[in-house]
Amino acid sequence: KSYNVAILGATGAVGTELLELLESRNFPVANLKLLASERSVGRTISFKGESLAIEAVSDRAFEGIDIVLASAGGSTSKTWAPKAVEKGAVVIDNSSAFRMQESVPLIVPEVNPQAAESHQGIIANPNCTTILMAVAIWPLHQIQPIKRLVVATYQSASGAGAKAMAEVQTQSQAILDGKTPVAEVLPYPLAFNLFAHNSPLTDWGYCEEEMKMVNETRKIFGNQQIRITATCVRVPVLRAHSEAVNIEFETPFSPESAREILSHSPGVKLVEDWQANHFPMPIEATGRDEVLVGRIRQDISHPCGLELWLCGDQIRKGAALNAVQIAELLVEKNLLKPLAISH
Ligand code: A2P
Repeated sequence: KSYNVAILGATGAVGTELLELLESRNFPVANLKLLASERSVGRTISFKGESLAIEAVSDRAFEGIDIVLASAGGSTSKTWAPKAVEKGAVVIDNSSAFRMQESVPLIVPEVNPQAAESHQGIIANPNCTTILMAVAIWPLHQIQPIKRLVVATYQSASGAGAKAMAEVQTQSQAILDGKTPVAEVLPYPLAFNLFAHNSPLTDWGYCEEEMKMVNETRKIFGNQQIRITATCVRVPVLRAHSEAVNIEFETPFSPESAREILSHSPGVKLVEDWQANHFPMPIEATGRDEVLVGRIRQDISHPCGLELWLCGDQIRKGAALNAVQIAELLVEKNLLKPLAISH
């Protein structure tokens, strides 16, 4: 059995990776439709050696489509996801538009695959920093409940899209040439700089990205009791996010047992060479499927505290790979709508 798949936002940073993953993971694609804005009409992209034309998104574009992988921003998803569902497709949406709606499952396949069973047409792919942290800490939470998380993130340009990645490269070159860097996509020059995450601020002084980590982690874990605080920072790295995570458990959790558990947890790769001071780095996480975890150590300020450091490819596990894994889950568990006919 194979499926008609549409990628909404096919020309973007995540869209490009979705295409690559469908091909490399051999997802059972019958027909692939590449959708973007009017601006991209006339462009072609190759898939499995075939050149496919980009189409402008429209009502008709979703006819006969079984699965939509959407990564074209929140407002585009709000407009088009319900229309795609009406046409019988299941939408896996990478934007934040539907994540906190009660009827919409928010899924990290390593953590809560069972949530897919109750979907009503739209499944949300969580925020990238949230996905990466969830993969790394869920196995520990299974052994001993987590009470509180204190997180600092070091987020790459890719989270703001392909144009932001290009902008950092242009800015870097400008600075090396002794010129003034120009910021058009991101609010400030990111090259040789860093700044507080550029998402809108809420009334409590937290930015939306920080609140996503709080609210989405609780929803994915199915646990509203975990206390979470985060500081999200944009750093001049192209496409992998890093996070310093301080975890407080109910009772002490030894670094040795955490290490042992994480050495065979799904989606995690332990990177720890204390002699060489070699721990996860964004440069080594780039292009990889796993979340790299290391520097696991006892928090010397709290008997029940544990420190860890992680890096993960924001475009891959932080976005496109997680979405494709959800699609694989739907196929494996036979959770595509009855409307989806075999081709
Ligand atoms: P386009 O290239 O035609 O603008 P990124 O996150 O890398 O910035 O990518 C955003 C993706 O979302 C691109 O594929 C972009 O297409 C697409 N997109 C943005 N706005 C719209 C829209 N209004 N309708 C359809 N696709 C859109």
